[in-house]
Amino acid sequence: MAYWEWQSSYELGISAIDNQHKKLVYYINELCSALATKNRKQVASVLEGIIEHTTSHFAFEEQLMSEAGYEMIESHKKTHAAFAAVIDRYKASFDEGYDVAGQLMAEIQIWLTYHITNDDSDYKECVKKMLSCKVAQNINGKSWFKTLFR
Ligand SMILES: [Fe+2]
Repeated sequence: MAYWEWQSSYELGISAIDNQHKKLVYYINELCSALATKNRKQVASVLEGIIEHTTSHFAFEEQLMSEAGYEMIESHKKTHAAFAAVIDRYKASFDEGYDVAGQLMAEIQIWLTYHITNDDSDYKECVKKMLSCKVAQNINGKSWFKTLFR
């Protein structure tokens, strides 16, 4: 059984975002497995993946919120920045040789669960509305949604 099981209550109904959130859950489970091996290199590699994925996920969400004209975007961005700083501090401690990966794993789980079901849930209707209007449009012959992945 996985350390963290994805719950249907986490779903926003925006598939790109839901898939990115699922990938974060997957990474946390990978971190749990890596910790069990007591192999520091493996733990370091999963931590790198978590940081990369979190950074790109936050940027993706912020772009969607911006396109949607979501009014709480600035406070949402601050929440992202604050949590990215927390992860960076954990990573720095890990790199200095401290055994913090287990703590980080638990903190990400708590933070992400709250963030998805509260902060992200707040923007979902606004973003969905924007997507339903724009997804059918073509910009220079390309699907608007594809322009997000350039
Ligand atoms: Fe978010």
